[in-house]
This record gives sequence, structure tokens and C-alpha cells, in this order.
Amino acid sequence: MREKIVAGNWKMNKTFSEARQLTTEILNQNLSTEVTVIIAPPFPFLQSLKDATKNSNIKIAAQNCHAKEEGAFTGEVSAKMLASMEIEYTLIGHSERRAYFHETNSFLKEKVNAALAHTIKPIFCCGENLKEREANHFFEVVKSQIEDSLFHLTEAQFENIIIAYEPVWAIGTGKTATPAQAQEMHAYIRNLVSKKYGSSISAITPILYGGSCNASNASELFKNPDVDGGLIGGASLKAQDFAAIVNAMESIVVANA
Ligand code: PGA
Repeated sequence: MREKIVAGNWKMNKTFSEARQLTTEILNQNLSTEVTVIIAPPFPFLQSLKDATKNSNIKIAAQNCHAKEEGAFTGEVSAKMLASMEIEYTLIGHSERRAYFHETNSFLKEKVNAALAHTIKPIFCCGENLKEREANHFFEVVKSQIEDSLFHLTEAQFENIIIAYEPVWAIGTGKTATPAQAQEMHAYIRNLVSKKYGSSISAITPILYGGSCNASNASELFKNPDVDGGLIGGASLKAQDFAAIVNAMESIVVANA
């Protein structure tokens, strides 16, 4: 079966002591080993949380990385630096990066290359905004985000990609995509991947849903055949809520075993 993943995107939240506290609380939940559990704290906390989770099955992701290896890019962090801390994953192309930091598909392509060059798995985010959804352009938008930033990769490289479909209108709004809307887009993405890389690669590509996913709706979303878990924002900031989402995924894995 395809890997199932629940990743917590902490965004720009928590002080250092709060981040350590939340990590301890998450560790105390004794989360599933059937599901890959990832947390993505802010950059300054990565090393400490990496150390704190060393003997657990919790993985640490960065929320971003720069495309260049090093140099005069004040305030930025390179994939090379993350790799030197043995960080295994990074988000790339989150809609907040696209909107507030003007990250384009072609710049994100460079970031994907940088991450892969340092053996860091990109969790590549895509998704349409409300205007694009209402104008029925959502398939085209997601298609070009994926094609422009990922479809130059070789098959061997693409096997390291995790895709997160996050409709912008659902992020932090409390308005979740319906299970049917999520499944429709995930199936569309898997089909795109299949046409480009073949069915054996598309069959193993994890496609996560993100956007107001919480303990009450996770199960309905994750039950869909092409939804392989979630990228969780707000609900990942409370250990019990995050654990409930991981457990929802775990129950589905167990039921389908
Ligand atoms: P949300 O955020 O769960 O708070 O909607 C998801 C995300 O932005 O990754």
C-alpha cells in the first residue's frame, strides 16, 4: 500500500519553549507506526526538535528552503543547510509563500531541484484560490503548478515527491473541501502523474489534503482512495487534535489491511 502521511505545518507559531512542550506532548501520544508522522516547525527550532524526536518515529520537516546553495540571500536557509542537519523533508510552494513572498512556479522548480540534490523530500503544495475555484479553473491551475515545477524531474527523482493539494480557500478558513471535491482533485492529480510517469509511479505518489482538516473531518477526507493523509495547519498546534488526525489515518490503514 502507498505510504500514508500526516504532516503538521506549524507556520509562524509557538515560542521555543512552547514548541518543545508541544513536541513532548506529541511524543506522549504514542502515535501510530503505520502512518508517517511529520512536524514542520519554524527554522530556529529544527535542531532542537530533531534531537527531541531522535528515538521516535516522528520526522521533522522544514517549511521552506531557498533554491541556491549559499550566498548573499539574507534571511534565507538553503537545502544544503537543512541537509547538514539531516532534515529529511521540506514543504515547497505553500500557498502562503506563493501569495506573500511571490514565489512562482519556475522559482519553486529550482527549490524542488535544490531539495532533491540534497536528498530532502519535497512536500510540494498546490491548490487554487477561491476566484479560480468559482471560475471553474481549478484543474488548469493545479495542472500548471505541478507541470511547471515538477514535470522536468526524472522518474527516479519523482519517486521522492509528496504532493499536498491545498485549496487556498480552505486554508485557515474553517471551510474544508468536501470529501468529494478532495477526491476529485486527488484523482485528477494522480492521473496527471500517471500520464507523465506511468501508473507504477503514480500508484506510489502520496497525495495529501490540506485546508481546515481537523479531528472531526479527517476521517471522511482520508477515506477517499486517492487521499493519502493530510497537511495540517491550525489543528497541528494542539497535540490531542493532531493525534486524533493521525489516528483517523491509522484506523483507515488498519481497516484496509
Ligand atoms: P489549516 O492550514 O489546516 O490551518 O487550514 C493548512 C496548511 O496551510 O498547510
